[in-house]
Amino acid sequence: MSESLLEVRNLEKYFPIKSGLFQRTTGHVKAVDGVSFDINRGETLALIGESGSGKSTIAETIIGLKSATGGSITFDGEDITDLSESELEDLRTKVQMVFQDPTSSLNPRRTVEQTLEVPLKARGVPRGERVSRIVDLLERVELNPEHRHRYPHELSGGQKQRINIARAISIEPELLILDEPTSALDVSVQAKIVRLLDDLQEEFDLTYLFITHDLSLVRNVAERTAVMYLGQIQERAQTEQLFEQPHHPYTQALLSAIPVTSDDEEAYKPQQDRLEGEIPSPENVPTGCRFHTRCPYATDVCETDQVPLHAVDDHGEARCHIYDPEHADAFENVPDVKTAAAVRSTPHE
Ligand SMILES: Nc1ncnc2c1ncn2[C@@H]1O[C@H](COP(=O)(O)OP(=O)(O)OP(=O)(O)O)[C@@H](O)[C@H]1O
Ligand SMILES: [Mg+2]
Repeated sequence: MSESLLEVRNLEKYFPIKSGLFQRTTGHVKAVDGVSFDINRGETLALIGESGSGKSTIAETIIGLKSATGGSITFDGEDITDLSESELEDLRTKVQMVFQDPTSSLNPRRTVEQTLEVPLKARGVPRGERVSRIVDLLERVELNPEHRHRYPHELSGGQKQRINIARAISIEPELLILDEPTSALDVSVQAKIVRLLDDLQEEFDLTYLFITHDLSLVRNVAERTAVMYLGQIQERAQTEQLFEQPHHPYTQALLSAIPVTSDDEEAYKPQQDRLEGEIPSPENVPTGCRFHTRCPYATDVCETDQVPLHAVDDHGEARCHIYDPEHADAFENVPDVKTAAAVRSTPHE
């Protein structure tokens, strides 16, 4: 049994842009453009990045809601890049997803019991056992079993998301993809859902792909983090190291936007200001390094040459020319991005 449960290699998802009377394809939205990562069994990998960077598209491609236009996805040693409907049904007994909006994920005309019955029935759980399984599931997501008679409109946002989580774990999947599972909820409810997910992960030995733009959350949930920008991973590292010493100017800018909680943190905060300007359109990605239009360190080479992920300091990788010895001359006159890296010692609660 290999250590990694999921392997994503050079994943591409290009959406055609059609225009004119004949709806000719005039270009492509490169929503996901050469993304690779692994998730080991039992671990949590966080995927972070600004809106539109391609996070949900990756999730939906893994679970087969969208088909990849390039690259491959392997789950538990099997290629799942291009599955038939019946193969997808099988896959979804092992890979489940929880979406951002807890309301639209539930059928308003079904009670909780009816909703939770569907996957159990599909899995062949006999009718007589279903209610006790549903009661069990509700208890596991810390809801009163009486809630099974309620309709979605009779539940709070947090309760609805608990039902979505109960449905996702009801068939005992191995991988749970969580796409902004708490961002539609109040802060106090978010913390409870995160704690629940943490407990469930331990209890069921679950592997998580955790998508979020809430950086302070990442630190509490994920062993490793990948930072997305315009369809590409810009940096990959152990989460703790990413926070202590972000290597990519983009990650530094993202982290500098988190409020500091102590003088120490202030002292080591990345020197860069918040990100300026809008994220460019993925219909028309910048040449060279995709981040060069917003990067304070960008030089000529960044405008012209694409960047691979460079290994940095034995831990993590960053898609930045600064880490390429060949381009050392080009960055002679810019402040050393490595020393501008943050040391953020206090974990966020
Ligand atoms: N069906 C589609 N057709 C065309 N473009 C699409 C489609 N779905 C997504 N996109 C584009 O792909 C890019 C990536 O979108 P995606 O939803 O994956 O981003 P995201 O990182 O999840 O953003 P958010 O944080 O807002 O959820 C965006 O530019 C989006 O407009
Ligand atoms: Mg999204």
